[in-house]
Amino acid sequence: MELQAIQGDITKTDADCLVVNLFAGVTTLGGATGAVDAALDGAISFLIRTQDFTGEAGTTALLYTKNGFAAPRVLLVGLGKQEKFDLHAARKAASVAAKALRRLKGVNRFATILHGAGAGGLEAQAAAQALAEGTLLALYQSPQYRREEKRRGPSAGVIVEFDGERLPQIEAGVAAGQALALGVKAARDYVSEPPNLLFPAEFARRAEAMAAEVGLQCTVLGEKKMRELGMNILLAVSKGSKRAAKLIILEHRPAGQTQETSEEAPLVLVGKGVTFDTGGISIKPAENMWRMKSDMGGAAAVVGAMETIARLKLPRRVIGLAVCVENMPDGKAFRPGDIWTGITGKSAEIISTDAEGRLILADALGYVAQYNPKAVVDLATLTGAIGVALGSQAAGLFANDDALQEALLAAAKASGERLWPMPMYDEYKDEIKSDMAEVKNSAARTSGVAASAKFIEHFTEGYPWAHLDIASMVWDQSDGNPLSPKGATGYGVRLLVELTKAY
Ligand code: BES
Ligand code: MN
Ligand code: ZN
Repeated sequence: MELQAIQGDITKTDADCLVVNLFAGVTTLGGATGAVDAALDGAISFLIRTQDFTGEAGTTALLYTKNGFAAPRVLLVGLGKQEKFDLHAARKAASVAAKALRRLKGVNRFATILHGAGAGGLEAQAAAQALAEGTLLALYQSPQYRREEKRRGPSAGVIVEFDGERLPQIEAGVAAGQALALGVKAARDYVSEPPNLLFPAEFARRAEAMAAEVGLQCTVLGEKKMRELGMNILLAVSKGSKRAAKLIILEHRPAGQTQETSEEAPLVLVGKGVTFDTGGISIKPAENMWRMKSDMGGAAAVVGAMETIARLKLPRRVIGLAVCVENMPDGKAFRPGDIWTGITGKSAEIISTDAEGRLILADALGYVAQYNPKAVVDLATLTGAIGVALGSQAAGLFANDDALQEALLAAAKASGERLWPMPMYDEYKDEIKSDMAEVKNSAARTSGVAASAKFIEHFTEGYPWAHLDIASMVWDQSDGNPLSPKGATGYGVRLLVELTKAY
C-alpha cells in the first residue's frame, strides 16, 4: 500500500474515507476531529452524546457526509483513555482503522490524521511511524495459492497535516515505519509459506536475493562446509531429510565501515530455522502438525530484522544467522539414544529427536564465537511449554547478562513485542545431566522450558547471551493480535530492530 504525507485541511481532502480519532471521555472536540465535527454540523458530538461512540480503544464508528464534503465517509477511531495512551496505542489505533477500512469494499484511497500527535503528546515523527507500522502491518496478506483474489484493502493512504512545518518529520516517520513493515512482511511470508515450497535451500535463495537488494553481505554454508567445521549436532538433525541443511549468514556494517577499518564487536542474532518439524523418530501427533511449518519463526524474525536494519542503515555492526534444517523421520534419521559431538567439542545425548531446536542452536552458538560478539541473542520456537507459562502475550527471556537483559526488556517495551524474564537457576542443569555425554537434550516434563535454556547455555562460549523462546508468539490462530491478521505474526522483527538501535 502507498502511504504519503501532505499539507492540508482534512475536511477538504478528496478520498473514499477520512479517518479521525477521539480519546475516551472527551466531550469537547478540538483539532482535526473538531474541524470535521463542525463541518458535519456536530454529527460526531451527537454520536458522543448518544454514547454510540465513546472513544474506547479498539472501537470505530462510521459516518456519512453530505453537501460540501469531498469524501463520502468518515471513520472515527477510539484512542482509549488519554492517560493510558502511548506509541503502542497509536500503532493499535492505526491498525484498528485499517482493518475497518478493509471491510469497506468501496474504500481504495483514505485520508487520515496522525493519531496522538496533538493531545496525545507524541512527537510528529514517532506518531507517523506508529501510524505507518499499524496500518501496513494490519493490512498484511499472506501469499495466496488460489484462483480468486482476496480483497487486500485500500491501496493508498494520505496523512493530512495542517501544520506544513511538521511534514519533514512525518515523512521521516513514514519511511521508518515502511522499512519496519517490509521486514515484518518478509518474516510473515517466510513463516506462512508452505513447507513444500519453503525449505532450507529456498529460504537461503530468498535471503540472498533480499541481501542483494538492500545491501547486506550474505554467505550460505552448505552441508559439506558444515561437516568440515564439525557441526555434527546440527547435521544429525538434518539426516532424516532429503532437503539439505543451510546456514544463512547475513552481515550489516554501518556506511563506510569495512573489515579492514573496523573490528567493531558485532551484535549477533541467531534464529532457529526448522522449516518443518515432524519431531523426527520421536514423531509428533498428527493433529496440528501442519503448524510446524512455522518452526522457522526465529530464523524468519532474524532475516526480517536484518532487512530492516539494512534499510534503516543503522549505525552498528550486526550479524544475523538463520540455522535451517528440516526434521524428518527416515531410515537415515538420527535416533533417540544417539550421541553427537559438535563444533565446540561438547557432546550431547539425544533423548528426543523432537527437541531438535536446541541441537541446531548448539552448533550455531559454537560457530558465532569466532566473531568475538558484543552479545548473542537467539530466537527459537523451542518449547510448547512456554505457551503454557505465558500464553501468547509474551515470549520467554533467558539471559546470562544483566545489561543485555535490560536492553531487551527496554526494546520489548518500545516495540510492544513483549518479553517476560524467566529464571536460569543452576539447579536446572541437574536435569540435563547425561550418563555418557556432557548433556542430554530433554529433561523431566516439569522443567521443559528452563532445561532447554540451560542446554543452549552449555554451548555458549563466554559472550553475553540471551535466548528468546518465541514458540507461542509466531503464529496466531485466534485473530487476536491487533497488529496482524490471523496466522504469521512476524514477532521479533521490531523487537530486534529496537535492540539494535539501543544496544
Ligand atoms: N518446535 C517445537 C516446539 C513448539 C511446539 C513450537 C508448539 C510451536 C508450537 C519443538 O521442537 C518441540 O518439539 N519441543 C518439544 C520439546 C520436548 C521434546 C522436550 C515440546 O515442546 O514438546
Ligand atoms: Mn521439535
Ligand atoms: Zn521444533
